[in-house]
Amino acid sequence: MDALEAVMTRRSTRRFKDRPVEDDLLKEIIEAGRYAPSGGNSQTNHFMVITDKEILSKLAVMVQDAFSKMEVYEGMYKSMANSITLSKKGNYVFHYNAPCLIVMANRKDYGNNLADVACALENMMIYANAKDLGSCWINQLRWLNEDEPLLKLFYGFGMKEDERIYGALALGYPDSDDGLPERRTIARKGNEVTYI
Ligand SMILES: Cc1cc2nc3c(=O)[nH]c(=O)nc-3n(C[C@H](O)[C@H](O)[C@H](O)COP(=O)(O)O)c2cc1C
Repeated sequence: MDALEAVMTRRSTRRFKDRPVEDDLLKEIIEAGRYAPSGGNSQTNHFMVITDKEILSKLAVMVQDAFSKMEVYEGMYKSMANSITLSKKGNYVFHYNAPCLIVMANRKDYGNNLADVACALENMMIYANAKDLGSCWINQLRWLNEDEPLLKLFYGFGMKEDERIYGALALGYPDSDDGLPERRTIARKGNEVTYI
């Protein structure tokens, strides 16, 4: 698959097989993220790669706990409202039980933190697609990136005091009939282009 095909056929995967991603392949995907550009060549992205099932389960429960204490208000970002509503019902797994979650932190006082994380996430999503893996951007940990219990947990994993989470990637083998990621392209109706 060439680069354009990998870009055009990348779709979000939200159902994963209970099968780990091989170490070598996982390392390649992380390298794809590490080779993303960064503002001023800062290279301050911090990749925290979680594959331990117990930690992933604990994280899901902590995220659900945090959201269940929040209230939905009018005009709230729809996905966040959805996270809160599902959490209050007690059946919310924000990372879709993916066998791997790559949590992306960066310095909280750095203006390009989210942009640099986004570049790394996109590199990883495209490369994952080229390698027949499924992936999905996971935003919940960013919304909760000042939540004390979660901060404590991630400090324990090696996140620095001056870092915060700006995104995450659920990664794994898609639980689809053919085992491949969904690759149907959806025609773009938005994303205006103006040639000058
Ligand atoms: C900034 C950003 C945040 C996103 N957050 C989530 C998320 O938390 N959970 C999720 O399931 N999908 C998330 N997505 C995936 C989008 O829902 C998805 O890319 C969009 O619906 C288009 O579908 P496609 O990826 O299959 O092309 C996010 C995507 C982006 C770019």
